[in-house]
Amino acid sequence: MPTVVVATGNPGKLQEMKAYLGELDWTLKLKPAEIDVEETGETFLENARLKASQVAIALDQWAIADDSGLEVRALNGAPGLYSARYGSSDGDRIERLLRELGDATDRQAQFVCAIALAQPDGQIILETAGVCLGTILTTPRGSGGFGYDPVFYVPALAKTFAEMPPAQKEQHSHRGIAFAQIMPQLRSLSLT
Ligand code: IMP
Repeated sequence: MPTVVVATGNPGKLQEMKAYLGELDWTLKLKPAEIDVEETGETFLENARLKASQVAIALDQWAIADDSGLEVRALNGAPGLYSARYGSSDGDRIERLLRELGDATDRQAQFVCAIALAQPDGQIILETAGVCLGTILTTPRGSGGFGYDPVFYVPALAKTFAEMPPAQKEQHSHRGIAFAQIMPQLRSLSLT
């Protein structure tokens, strides 16, 4: 079974990757904590590429990375690449987002997720990005998920991400869309 390193230090992300990639005969393992990759890219895709490539080179193994965030139109795309660093907790981040958006009538937003797979020499051989469109509510709703989920409302499903059962969010989220796009290519790869 080929081993693929998930270029994250976050065990939650490893579990999510396992759920999306479970049908493949890959052994997924977490990146060692001592390998730290600076996210200096200017796009989600650049950051996913950086993480996958640098971890692959450091370990001489296959590596997969994702990078994601929320872009709000009335905030010129913020928090964007800084989604994780927008506050010190999920509560803080949501509070800041709602404060900065104030009573703006344009509440259009999108979640973006980029994924990159690097071979052991660091070369990126597959990449993709998924987008999920929504709007930002004025008050949080629902108790599932994480991050900005309680304020991210998907009109097509009439629910926030936090109100969706996990399987529904998995299917419709930016991450789910990105993985669905890349799965046919991942299935046909033979990792050596
Ligand atoms: P990263 O991809 O680990 O760099 O972090 C992205 C950040 O974007 C997270 O810390 C969350 O704040 C936010 N984010 C990404 N995906 C989601 C999601 O599905 N729901 C809610 N927040 C998300």
